[in-house]
Amino acid sequence: MPPRYGGTDRRRAPEGRRRDRAADDLARYRSGIAAYLNGVGGRAGGADRIEGMSEQTIALVTGANKGIGYEIAVGLGALGWSVGVGAREEERREAAVEKLRAAGVDAFGVPLDVTDDASVAAAAGLIEERAGRLDVLVNNAGVTGGMPQEPTRVDPATVRTAVETNVIGVIRVTNAMLPLLRRSAAPRIVNMSSSVGSLARQSTSTDELGTGPISAAYAPSKTFLNAVTVQYARELRDTNILINAGCPGFCATDLNGFRGVRTPEQGAAIAIRLATLPDDGPTGGFFEDAGVVPW
Ligand SMILES: NC(=O)c1ccc[n+]([C@@H]2O[C@H](COP(=O)([O-])OP(=O)(O)OC[C@H]3O[C@@H](n4cnc5c(N)ncnc54)[C@H](OP(=O)(O)O)[C@@H]3O)[C@@H](O)[C@H]2O)c1
Repeated sequence: MPPRYGGTDRRRAPEGRRRDRAADDLARYRSGIAAYLNGVGGRAGGADRIEGMSEQTIALVTGANKGIGYEIAVGLGALGWSVGVGAREEERREAAVEKLRAAGVDAFGVPLDVTDDASVAAAAGLIEERAGRLDVLVNNAGVTGGMPQEPTRVDPATVRTAVETNVIGVIRVTNAMLPLLRRSAAPRIVNMSSSVGSLARQSTSTDELGTGPISAAYAPSKTFLNAVTVQYARELRDTNILINAGCPGFCATDLNGFRGVRTPEQGAAIAIRLATLPDDGPTGGFFEDAGVVPW
């Protein structure tokens, strides 16, 4: 399909691609998410590209040097996408890029500490220089913040650490990347959250597999992230940007001392689904493999 807007300038997608998403649409998408998630795996159909720019989909995954983030990079790379491996430590980043390339992924390293303004600005500059735009941002980098986390004995610094990375880091990276995302014909933002941030589950379940341990830092940081995701969706409602939160399930990674019961590859699946939503897919939602996670 020929581009509906020509030239080499990097304008955002045309008005027709923008969305006017009403609240009842959201409710419909939430109830029907299984249908929307089935059959995804490629880029949104009919997405026009700006002439002179690469047709290849460009993605950035934060915290992609290991764990679920690495597996998200593998999965997006398998779609033929060019994947930026956002990672703060050079050796770990380069090792991951090398491993991904050996597996056939078009991977490139992006030095990125999500808690550092200058680092995030430089990462946006690197992607701008390399690709001129960004199609998909996966905000995956996350920390527990340290232990203990029980409200009655938590060190406030622990809470601050969790929020600084898991919430403010996501806002910092998202806002730095938004000018690049706005140049995409079908931008997607995926925030890796956790069902432990679900207040509904925290208040109705006693199963630690679903709620995680009692926490005043990590779990509430994901609740905060979910709330922020909804606010982005509200502000971006009239654009073509879809932003959603995903829960990977309890996966065996460094984050939990490898106590998780799922593989990081299984955990990556929800992010890949949300990264490949069609143009009429949901925004402002919270999903796991089985469907909608209650707030
Ligand atoms: N594992 C689970 O069961 C589970 C469940 C629900 C949600 N999640 C979420 O899934 C995401 C990935 O977790 P994971 O289990 O794969 O954990 P992980 O193996 O510990 O990986 C976390 C990644 O985030 C990176 N990171 C941490 N702080 C960073 C910073 N300031 N700047 C840039 N990168 C940073 C880490 O880099 P370094 O190697 O440099 O530390 C690492 O690449 C997190 O958001 C987590 O909350 C995980």
